[in-house]
Amino acid sequence: MKIEVSSSPPLDFPAPLLVLPLFADESLAGAAAQLSSTLNGLIAEIFEADGFKAKVGDSRLIYNPSGASPRVLLLGLGRRDKFDAEKLRRAAAKAVSAAQSLKKTELAFALPVLETLSVENAALAVAEGLELGAHSFDDFKSDEKPAPLQSATICVESELENAQRGVETAQILAAATLKCRALVNLPSNLKKPETLAQTARDIASEKGLRVEIWDEKRIQDEKMGALWGVGMGSEAPPRFIILEYVPEGFENEAPIALVGKGMSFDTGGYSIKPSTSMEDMKDDMAGAGVVLAAMSALADLKIPRRVLGVIPSAENMVSDRAQRPGDIVTARNGKTIEVLNTDAEGRLILADALVWTCEQKPAAIIDFATLTGAISIALGQEGAGLFSNDDALSASLLSAGEKVGERLWRFPMWEEYREYMKGTVSDLKNIGPERRAGSIAAAIFLEEFVEKGIPWTHLDIAAVSLVKSEKFLTQRGATGFGVRMILDYLRDAEGEKGRRGEGE
Ligand code: BES
Ligand code: MN
Ligand code: ZN
Repeated sequence: MKIEVSSSPPLDFPAPLLVLPLFADESLAGAAAQLSSTLNGLIAEIFEADGFKAKVGDSRLIYNPSGASPRVLLLGLGRRDKFDAEKLRRAAAKAVSAAQSLKKTELAFALPVLETLSVENAALAVAEGLELGAHSFDDFKSDEKPAPLQSATICVESELENAQRGVETAQILAAATLKCRALVNLPSNLKKPETLAQTARDIASEKGLRVEIWDEKRIQDEKMGALWGVGMGSEAPPRFIILEYVPEGFENEAPIALVGKGMSFDTGGYSIKPSTSMEDMKDDMAGAGVVLAAMSALADLKIPRRVLGVIPSAENMVSDRAQRPGDIVTARNGKTIEVLNTDAEGRLILADALVWTCEQKPAAIIDFATLTGAISIALGQEGAGLFSNDDALSASLLSAGEKVGERLWRFPMWEEYREYMKGTVSDLKNIGPERRAGSIAAAIFLEEFVEKGIPWTHLDIAAVSLVKSEKFLTQRGATGFGVRMILDYLRDAEGEKGRRGEGE
């Protein structure tokens, strides 16, 4: 989408649709007041007599044939004291659906003046909302598709250049998010571990990253018995994918490692899933999608950090070669695991990936995984679970999530949970006691494969990676949840170092 900024007063800008965001409980000012008086007090009247209160989600379309823009959409932002950037993103996404239902491919958006958000960040939020809201997963629909929004102009009162910079950043962030969505939306007949590997190669050659792919033989040679055990039942063999971004001058820096669960499909294996639980399991590589998408944006954002991307990828199938319940596998660090449930496979492939990642002596590890159904019981679709051994890393990620509208919530990892995953005939078992703290138990299992002293955070994105129908910035399908959060964290990683007192 083409997004431009303009210093033209919104009411003078010629567009088929002008979006005018308004706060609740405020008297009309600026463009809204001006338009109202041109229209003999119409907007004031709508507020007073027609139930429009500019609450979050309220909207009203006005036809104004003599204006530069003949249609004006009033959009409620709610009360100013409750305002945050997410309100603006959602308003922009709502503006896109309004434009689409009016069959308009162009709109203008009046950027509100805000005390709590800079012009740059406000323009960034609007552009993100427009780009993400405009995307819909319809690649496989052959009937006529509605023309998508093609161009938008954000009208700003001042700081045109800052607004421009916000838009440029937003477009990189949105492109990465859409890349993640596209990967996750791809059905699993067209998506195998090798597909993710090839995507990594393509990203590496396009963006100048180092890439290394291990095949099933190398995986076994490297003693990744847990990853191999999960992948060995499928015709499509497992892959271990490594990407690295090393900006000039950062060759000696310890990398920040991003690890993503890359199950190209999860049937559950012999502990097979009921069919309704299986139908969305193409999204079991959403963690890998976040990592691939984030890696693809680092060079464009000129992130001043070395970043390692790690993806264990496999397809969890049933066959005469597949892993059986009760099998005992040995992970790369020598720990033995009794696979009591072949559907708890994400933690197995991540175990080997975490061991290898720790060997690279990273400054921090952040893993993304559609790991447990239990996280949806705990949080619904309103946020992802955060599990960590490090308060500072958690705090930075929590605040990045809050800032970009991808909420995270921290769970405890109390010592006592360790008992849950202790093995009877092996070091560990891959499931805990039935129905008890399922998401925490999975995180506790992962921690067994993280070297002491390395700051690590696990993000369980199982409930937020896909939506069945429109939710805020996603029309349907994959959300790309996590991409903007981690990129915001990495953009700010220099600042974080300062807060931790580790300045160079
Ligand atoms: N991929 C699933 C988790 C999942 C569930 C992702 C729903 C997206 C939506 C994971 O591999 C899994 O099957 N977990 C099991 C673990 C259990 C067997 C201990 C689960 O959550 O049921
Ligand atoms: Mn599973
Ligand atoms: Zn899974």
